[in-house]
Amino acid sequence: MDDSLRSIRKNEHIQLALDTYQSGGTDFDKVQLIHQSIPSINKNQINLSMTFPHFTFNHPIYINAMTGGSERASLINKHLAQIARECDIPMAVGSTHSALKDTHAESSFTVVREENPNGIIFSNVGADIGYKLAQKSIELLGANALQIHVNAPQELIMPEGDTEFEHWLNNIQEIQEHIDVPVIIKEVGFGMSAETIQKIKDIGIQYVDISGRGGTNFADIENRRRPLQDMSFLNQWGQSTVQSLLEASILGTDINLLASGGVKNPLDAIKSIVLGADAVGMSGYVLKHLEEFGVTETITHMKQFIDQLYIIANLLNASNISDLREVGYVLSPDLQSYVEQRNKAIQRFK
Ligand SMILES: Cc1cc2nc3c(=O)[nH]c(=O)nc-3n(C[C@H](O)[C@H](O)[C@H](O)COP(=O)(O)O)c2cc1C
Repeated sequence: MDDSLRSIRKNEHIQLALDTYQSGGTDFDKVQLIHQSIPSINKNQINLSMTFPHFTFNHPIYINAMTGGSERASLINKHLAQIARECDIPMAVGSTHSALKDTHAESSFTVVREENPNGIIFSNVGADIGYKLAQKSIELLGANALQIHVNAPQELIMPEGDTEFEHWLNNIQEIQEHIDVPVIIKEVGFGMSAETIQKIKDIGIQYVDISGRGGTNFADIENRRRPLQDMSFLNQWGQSTVQSLLEASILGTDINLLASGGVKNPLDAIKSIVLGADAVGMSGYVLKHLEEFGVTETITHMKQFIDQLYIIANLLNASNISDLREVGYVLSPDLQSYVEQRNKAIQRFK
């Protein structure tokens, strides 16, 4: 694809993500955490850092993949990197394909490392590229991990999408074998099934980001880019973030579980952790806040967001991430029915 078209597309994605952003109404509302009246810990005794095999997140949230490859994206990346640095949280860049094909686009990504020399940064590529380009993507940023996005619905709905998928799994496996940072297989808002997570685990991948439905909606975004806008019937495609976490939990496979998709407040983030996530990513929420209020206010806001994670943990009498996993919860009847129906199917293939 032509580089200028790629840059135009990136700007369209940013604008459409902002225009279609909705502040409420996700499956997180269908999960109730059980309140305990007599906490036995103080707020300052809580530590919500999360240690993974390859790095430690000082707080259990991160800014997820969005941008790079255009002038507007470059400024956004600079600001996101400043937010990540000041809040001490990891950050992923958007797909680096533009920079892998055109050196002019590199600075819109490298700005992230310049702004945050010591931070945890994830690079990002699609599953259609070979391991040499994947290696280049990691080197570009001195990345601590590589996200490989799997976005089949997006490619199929977007007018200029790449619909050759047959090599994806092999490519992922080859990348994993040739690079020396961990690979994170990442959805883009359509969620993951237990079968997908198992498939990823079976080829030796240690990290998934189940990025589910509920927030930024690439079915809707790509449909709006179609001349006839004729595919809105797929707007609710995929598993929500809550459903994806339930899929992972029924499966019970030992894999590092990152969750994103529709996280819009600290309670959504804590609910994700209670349901099994090791850390929680946000894209649309941070982008929207940055666009509306600017970088300084967004830093203050995200610091408050982190503090409020600790407030909720205190309410739940949880002093760390493992305690959060023990928190009681109740699912709405439709989620409970989802669990029962999927449980049967998942036990069959396990
Ligand atoms: C403007 C924008 C651009 C995105 N570009 C990418 C990308 O290049 N690579 C990727 O893996 N995910 C990309 N995403 C998807 C997000 O990383 C995330 O999976 C999805 O937006 C769901 O999270 P959210 O509801 O918090 O936005 C993008 C999201 C947004 C808002």
